[in-house]
Amino acid sequence: MSEVLSLLRRAPDVEAPDLVAVDATDRLLLDEAAAALAIAGPGEVAVVDDAYGALTLGAVALHGAAGVRVHQDLLVGERALARNAERTGLTGTYRPVPLGPELAAGARVVLVQAPKGLEALREIAEVLAASAAPDVTVFVGGRVKHMTHAMNDVLRDSFTDVSATLARQKSRVLVARGPRPSASSFPRTQEHADLGLVVRAHGAAFAGTKIDVGTRTLHGALDRMAPDAGTALDLGSGTGVLATLLARARPGLEVLAADQSAAAVASTTATAEANGVGGRVRVLRDDAAESVDDASVDLVILNPPFHVGAAVVTSAADRLFAAAGRVLRPGGELWTVYNSALRYKPTLARLVGPTRVVEQTPKFTVTVSTRR
Ligand SMILES: C[S@@+](CC[C@H](N)C(=O)[O-])C[C@H]1O[C@@H](n2cnc3c(N)ncnc32)[C@H](O)[C@@H]1O
Repeated sequence: MSEVLSLLRRAPDVEAPDLVAVDATDRLLLDEAAAALAIAGPGEVAVVDDAYGALTLGAVALHGAAGVRVHQDLLVGERALARNAERTGLTGTYRPVPLGPELAAGARVVLVQAPKGLEALREIAEVLAASAAPDVTVFVGGRVKHMTHAMNDVLRDSFTDVSATLARQKSRVLVARGPRPSASSFPRTQEHADLGLVVRAHGAAFAGTKIDVGTRTLHGALDRMAPDAGTALDLGSGTGVLATLLARARPGLEVLAADQSAAAVASTTATAEANGVGGRVRVLRDDAAESVDDASVDLVILNPPFHVGAAVVTSAADRLFAAAGRVLRPGGELWTVYNSALRYKPTLARLVGPTRVVEQTPKFTVTVSTRR
């Protein structure tokens, strides 16, 4: 059993020699929580944002946890955990649940891979404080370079006692005890009077209740997009700003919105409802629109995941371009926006079809690609 961690893989996420399925934070979390895990009863352990399954399967195999409840924002993480459980013979030892009372009710030990954003951490902390056992211990681990004092403050809003462990291999764990239940502040709501739009956002959703400049730039081209389209897909919908604006601007259009993030899917649904188009936007949680049929859509709008310099991140955008090419019918249009420093045009031409720049500022480029 002790080798269980060495058996884990990242698939279906990108695999590469320098990319690991189990990192130093996973190992530190499992070590720091070892004593608490050893005395937790069945159903008393919960895990949040396990990257590929190391926390869940490590808690089960190394520390005897049973009936673990797991919430992962990203679908790719959920899939990797399922595959790793199968690979290690641990299928059935845990259960995926939404971020809510079903995750936290009665939990006494919770392992959390710190999310990137403070709002995501706040939502997790609120959910845990609202329904975990009064003697719960929450272990939040992250890379030291990504951890700030603001994270302690966020945890202190939901727990009376927050302390930090010593760092090990550039990771650190925050330990929170003494839940202070409060009403959830999510999804958050913001009205954007200039667009006549209400945005609702869960903690982990891209841009929160703000509207990203790239999103605004793409919105500016809405009137010019495939005028005869009957079906449109907002690919990677985030809080659902584009799907909602599109549904509202074109009453005859059937609008799909897809994202792999659970927070994005819940936010898109909430934003569409808040603007009176809840019945007109069908929201899917899937990876790269895999549940959308080939050649079934007339228009795809896409504000792809941010480029941060790494090859892996660029390929995340490429995957979505390829997905757009697959779901568009011949003659259908992909409208996308990206940082002008990026050279996406040849990739778009290859993965979708002839591509034209519609708008270019020093910061953003909007293109339309016609499916060949
Ligand atoms: C830059 S955000 C744009 C969100 C929204 N369309 C907007 O403009 O505000 C990119 C979105 O793509 C989603 N995403 C990234 N990779 C994805 C994938 N493989 N499948 C589905 N969605 C993905 C992210 O979760 C994120 O919500």
